[in-house]
Amino acid sequence: MVKIAPSLLACDFAILKEEVQRVKDSKADILHFDVMDGQFVPNISIGLPILESLRKVTDMTIDTHLMIENPEQMIDLFCEAGSDMVSVHFEATHHIHRAIQQIKAHNKLAGVVINPGTPVEHLQSVLADVDFVLIMTVNPGFGGQAFISSTLDKIAWLDQYRKNNQLSFEIEVDGGINDQTGELCRNHGADILVAGSYYFKHEDYRAPVLKLKGE
Ligand code: DX5
Ligand code: ZN
Repeated sequence: MVKIAPSLLACDFAILKEEVQRVKDSKADILHFDVMDGQFVPNISIGLPILESLRKVTDMTIDTHLMIENPEQMIDLFCEAGSDMVSVHFEATHHIHRAIQQIKAHNKLAGVVINPGTPVEHLQSVLADVDFVLIMTVNPGFGGQAFISSTLDKIAWLDQYRKNNQLSFEIEVDGGINDQTGELCRNHGADILVAGSYYFKHEDYRAPVLKLKGE
């Protein structure tokens, strides 16, 4: 069964605690926490103080997506602040293998992310090391963008690669996910669907969870 990870970027931050409770009540599986530095992506979002506050009010799995340059400088802090999963962009560091090991040293689930313009084959050398791969299905930086369908081939490639090599990493997708694109991603092998604007536009958050799971 696919897991659903609402992206807090699209929530109402003025009532964050209530939003998180409503997300949990909706039976979503994971909280997706987007960190942007204004350098790696042309936007600035949320960071350590919010993560620390969030950790105190929820026992949900927190999935921290680092859209930042030189992630090695910040990985320890984001692990210690309460993340359960941490992902770093392949494009953001010269040392992706080291960055993954740094996350694993904290006993957190480690993920690698690629932008739509990066070939998935570039990840081959680290696929045995990661717990999950995050395929960006939009260019990172903003919520509410349209899904880029050429990314579906990457999901299928990863699914085939893990079968061929007896690997168990999960495949996560992020950007432009709604009931239709979510179904396409599920059918191509995705295990975790991140959804921001589609999820939070609903009055009742249970509805998008059911639709994204295909129930
Ligand atoms: C984009 C972020 C996403 C974003 C997705 O850079 O990584 O997590 O919140 O938003 P939607 O689902 O609206 O495309
Ligand atoms: Zn994200």
